[in-house]
Amino acid sequence: MTGGGRALVEVMHGVNLDQLGRRDPALYGSLTLAQLERRVAADAEELGLATSFFHTNHEGEFVERLHALRDAGADGLLLNPGAWTHYAWSIRDALEIAALPAVEVHLSAVQERERWRRVSVIADLCVASVSGRGADGYRDALALLQGELTLRGRSERGRR
Ligand code: DQA
Repeated sequence: MTGGGRALVEVMHGVNLDQLGRRDPALYGSLTLAQLERRVAADAEELGLATSFFHTNHEGEFVERLHALRDAGADGLLLNPGAWTHYAWSIRDALEIAALPAVEVHLSAVQERERWRRVSVIADLCVASVSGRGADGYRDALALLQGELTLRGRSERGRR
């Protein structure tokens, strides 16, 4: 939670996503990662959510950021781990340790591409998965996460 009382959503990008903008635009769109992040920040602002952003090409750094998320004050996360989604059990374990509501996002329609991309080792730990909607998918994912945070907030208050 931020000082202003807004929920804080961490937006995490993994391997090769720093290449957006020059990486097959037919699949991934034409926005650079910086442009995508600005758009996500603006969409989140409209929903009353605060954002923080993280990208790395190094699996261990992605894992360490997941470990640090609670201490960083994150209430939930959107994650697009890129190809790690399909095989990185270390990231799955770290996501489980983070124990925060998470939404998985992919720019491309992973379910309609190669067989190996249809596997996600994190999907069952996430409250939702959004794919094939390009940058708009991040807005959908933010709204889904916000719904989950509201539900959890309500049930926490109910216990008090
Ligand atoms: C991706 C899909 C992955 O299969 C791929 O390896 C990526 C990007 C997407 O956003 O569509 O790097 O996560």
